[in-house]
Parts: sequence; structure tokens; C-alpha cells
Amino acid sequence: MRNVEITGWGKCMPPNVLSNHDLEQLVDTSDDWITTRTGIKERRISHVEASELAAVAGLRALAAAGKTVDDVDLLMVATCSGDSIIPSTASVVQKRMETWNAAAMDLNAACSGFVYGLVVGTNMIRGGTYQTVLLVGTEKLHHLLDFTDRSTCILFGDGAGAVVLEGSDESAGVLASDLGTDGSAGHVLEVPVDGTMGDRGHPDPAMCGISMEGQEIFRRAVTKMSESSLIALDKAGLRLDDVDLLIPHQANSRIIDATARRLGLDGAKVYVNIQSYGNTSAATVPVALTEALEDGRISPGDIVLFAAFGGGLTWGSLVYKWGSRVTPLGKSDAELPPPDRNTLELLRPNFDFFGLPERMA
Ligand SMILES: CC(C)(COP(=O)(O)OP(=O)(O)OC[C@H]1O[C@@H](n2cnc3c(N)ncnc32)[C@H](O)[C@@H]1OP(=O)(O)O)[C@@H](O)C(=O)NCCC(=O)NCCS
Repeated sequence: MRNVEITGWGKCMPPNVLSNHDLEQLVDTSDDWITTRTGIKERRISHVEASELAAVAGLRALAAAGKTVDDVDLLMVATCSGDSIIPSTASVVQKRMETWNAAAMDLNAACSGFVYGLVVGTNMIRGGTYQTVLLVGTEKLHHLLDFTDRSTCILFGDGAGAVVLEGSDESAGVLASDLGTDGSAGHVLEVPVDGTMGDRGHPDPAMCGISMEGQEIFRRAVTKMSESSLIALDKAGLRLDDVDLLIPHQANSRIIDATARRLGLDGAKVYVNIQSYGNTSAATVPVALTEALEDGRISPGDIVLFAAFGGGLTWGSLVYKWGSRVTPLGKSDAELPPPDRNTLELLRPNFDFFGLPERMA
């Protein structure tokens, strides 16, 4: 069976920052509470749509792979906060990037979306249907944030990350994976009034934002990310000792720590960047992968374990043997336009829709 390798990687984080100290001015919270409960210090608030973040991340990943937009034959966008339902966000990204040879589709498995996308993309290439897959995780989650709810508005942020997947004859690439879903628990993390079931004139704006049972998510995330990791490692014929780096979904540093503890994995082998970006859902894993490579945390031949958990409820993990190249082949000059508003101004539509945060009321 043909191997499938990640040959390019890139990220696009919007420049506007919302720090814990900024949040202290909006809701009844503190930097200390947020830091100790979640590990998050700041997050980004995007001035552009998710598709524009995706296009820049995608162009950067293509340059890193030494590919052009014409080489992409499948473009997949993992997102749960995309620009629109029709057209798909992937179609909009195709237009922005001009990847005209690519079939384009969205994939929504919430925070597990990127790991799901890695599995789908890998099998599309293994099956011989596509040669070069561009997989992007992108989110503009702040659109869904109700700043009258301090338990959710502190957690999420915006951003995008991307990888290029290609068939390879090297003895490297995707070794094994495991995916799962428990739809019976979908209500544990939801945007209640959305989609065709939603009441278009719902009187309570709070129903249009992210709603969740925090402790239930916490418990299930730790259990499923560790169980799934062990299943994927077993399928790969590897043991935990073989893992050089775990790149987990960045939802909460305590979830990450508890998962590593449950697995018995040394914390030094876990990549964490949640302090800078919060939970960017489908974007956390490709952004963390890009930064792990930039930080020199991945060496040729390393075994990298990806693990994620999210709305659905979904989870997934993937065991990957890194190939010989850990540096990009090229660099893209793609950039976002500069923001024309400050962070608070970008949040104004949220305040108008959901209500003023208590400290501004
Ligand atoms: C949300 C989360 C940080 C809350 O932490 P927790 O330790 O479970 O806290 P609790 O919900 O038990 O709340 C404890 C107290 O803190 C308060 N609190 C909640 N948010 C707060 C905030 N931002 N600042 C200060 N206090 C806050 C609660 O009101 C509660 O107060 P009370 O004891 O007076 O009722 C945590 O449950 C979590 O991260 N869960 C996972 C969420 C997640 O990752 N979702 C995405 C999955 S992909």
C-alpha cells in the first residue's frame, strides 16, 4: 500500500489579540482563573472570514511543499465556523487560492475535523483517486461567542493551519488511525439554534452561541483521546514508548495534561501552544504541527501521535512516522490584509447580538 506523507505545512493567525486581561474588562473573570483552569493566556480575533485565513495558510503550506496551486487535486476544509453553508467554505477557499484543478469540500467533525481530514485525505490518495491533497483547518469561532457567558467566551479563538498530503514511496507517513463518534451525546457541546432545525426567529440569542457542559466534555475528552491513541498505536504495532511527540487538540491544558497522565506519557513529549491561541477547534492541530516543526520539536524518523476530541461528540487519533524533511522547501509571500479595526471593535457585532458583557453594561 502506498504511503502518504505530509510534505508541506503552514498557519495563518489573525493579528488582533484578546488577552485574559482584556477579558477581565468585559466579564467577571481573572487572568489567574483562566490560566489555572485552561492554560490560555490570549487568543486571536479575526478581522477576515475563515476562508481568507484558510487561503493564506493553504498558500503557505503549498510553498513549504514546493507545490503550486495547480498541483492540488483535492481541497478539504475542516471547519465548524465557515463562511457559509452554500457555497461550502472550501469552494470559497478554492476561489481565493485559485486551485482550479481541485475538487473542494468541507468536512465538519468540529474540533476533531482536522484529524478526520487527515484520515480521509490519506485514504483518497491510497485509493488512487487523488495525488495531492490540501487539507486546511480554519475557524472564525468568535462569531459564535456570547460574551455574556463567561464559561465559554474565554475558551475559543480564531485561526487556520494547513498541510499538503502526497503519496510517497518512502517508509514514512501515516501508519494507523482511529476515529469515533457518539451522536447520542451531541447535546453536550452544541450551537442549539442553527441549521434547518433552528427557529429563525428564536427570541433568545444565547441559543445561537456555543453552549456546553464543561465538566462532561472534560471527562469524555480525556477518556476518548487516550483510548483512541492506544487503539491507533496498537494498529500501528507500536507502543507508547515509541512516541516522540504527541500533538493533541488544544482545548484546555488540563485536558492535555490529564490525557498524557492517563496514557503514562512524559509531559516533555507533548506539544502545547494553547497559551497563545486558545481553542481554535479544527485549526489547533495543524497550527500546533506547524509550530512544532518551526520550534525544531520534530526530527526525521520521529513517531508523531495526533489526538483530538470535539463536538459531535467526535474523537480521533493518528500515528505518523515523520519523513526525512523537517524544513519547508519554500516560503509564500501570502499575507492577510491589515485589520482596520481594533479587537474590541471586531467584537462589537457579538455585543449587539448576544448582549453587552456584564462589565460594559
Ligand atoms: C469550562 C471549564 C474551563 C470550567 O472549568 P471547571 O473547573 O469545570 O469550572 P466549573 O464549570 O465547575 O465552574 C467553577 C466555578 O467557576 C465559575 N466560572 C466559570 N467560568 C469562569 C470564568 N471565566 N471566570 C471565573 N469564574 C468562572 C463558575 O461559575 C463556577 O462558579 P461557582 O462555583 O460559584 O458556581 C472546564 O470545564 C473545561 O475546560 N471544560 C472543557 C471545555 C472544552 O474544552 N470545550 C471544547 C471541547 S473541544
